[in-house]
Amino acid sequence: MESSDNPVLEAIYARRSVRTYTDEPVADELLYEVLRAGSWAPSGLNNQPWRFAIVRDPSVKDELAGLTRYAKIVRSANVLVAVFLDEDSSYDVEKDRQGIGACIQNMLLAAHSLGLGAVWLGEILKNRDKVREVLELSPGLDLMAVVALGHRARTDQTSSRRELGELIVKEC
Ligand SMILES: Cc1cc2nc3c(=O)[nH]c(=O)nc-3n(C[C@H](O)[C@H](O)[C@H](O)COP(=O)(O)O)c2cc1C
Repeated sequence: MESSDNPVLEAIYARRSVRTYTDEPVADELLYEVLRAGSWAPSGLNNQPWRFAIVRDPSVKDELAGLTRYAKIVRSANVLVAVFLDEDSSYDVEKDRQGIGACIQNMLLAAHSLGLGAVWLGEILKNRDKVREVLELSPGLDLMAVVALGHRARTDQTSSRRELGELIVKEC
């Protein structure tokens, strides 16, 4: 089957990390659709441990930009979504983190399908506590990633993956 016949496979294969954006604002309805898609990720015991902080304020973006080498992306994205693990909802930190990874991937795929560009920013985690302080959030929220979102300035990003044969360690 051609992946173009299948919208889920199309999105998985065509989505790229997008790091440059136009100045066009991301409409609230698109942003909330991205968050809703994230919230429909699977989680252990369906505990839904993800929480989102939405940042549109340029002065807050500037403060966050000072916490990562990806400052340019953080400043230029129209909206940032900081994704947290809510320790009060947690039942197993390893599984909760896995669920939040699924949540973030859903967000990236939804953004792609809505014509937005997005990138998962993990390097900023080295300053996870400072990010929480800038956002004035409670210590029970542990930063998992920042997702930068905007309208794509370019659509020519490419990427590559290892051949499947390199990845399958056993087939019985
Ligand atoms: C856990 C994680 C952390 C990442 N952190 C960053 C980051 O800090 N900065 C960045 O530009 N991209 C980051 N990325 C994006 C990857 O660089 C990107 O997904 C990878 O190069 C494959 O490219 P693609 O997403 O276009 O397929 C991260 C991705 C993941 C899953």
